[in-house]
Amino acid sequence: MKAERQLSIKYTVYESLEELPKEAKELMEVAIQTRKKAYSPYSKFKVGAAVLLENGQIFVGSNQENAAYPSGLCAERVAIYQASTQCPSEKIKMICVSGSAELPTKYPVSPCGACRQSLSEYETKQQQPICVYFMGAEGAIVQTDSIKDLLPFLFDGSLL
Ligand code: THU
Repeated sequence: MKAERQLSIKYTVYESLEELPKEAKELMEVAIQTRKKAYSPYSKFKVGAAVLLENGQIFVGSNQENAAYPSGLCAERVAIYQASTQCPSEKIKMICVSGSAELPTKYPVSPCGACRQSLSEYETKQQQPICVYFMGAEGAIVQTDSIKDLLPFLFDGSLL
């Protein structure tokens, strides 16, 4: 028998950086500074990500583009792969993302589908949610308690 179901997600919208909890505000400020270092000559769209580990260490990433377009990588994956390389057994607490076109983007820029999938791998691995904050260059910030809120029906290793 067919069964229609619904999923709902919880997310919080903050109007400005000033409203964020201290730890998140500080991490988002790092993401914003990192965004400015993006290498994005083709799209001119800059993204910065900052990952906070449970031991307090922070790893950052900015999008890295390439003349062979698919060879580039998003900021979130640059950051999370760096964190996992340097501290493979440390749990990831939080990731902050800020993205903007040349004219300052005012709406929240959410991680792309491929980044959600990549981030979800570490959440599954550590069996603990990763808190996500994302924003444009300015304006509102969206927060979810877990990557799973951004990626329903995610694919994980238990399916293999
Ligand atoms: N980009 C990111 O870095 N993160 C995302 O989640 C979305 C897109 C980058 C990829 C590319 O360099 C540029 O933004 C435009 O798509």
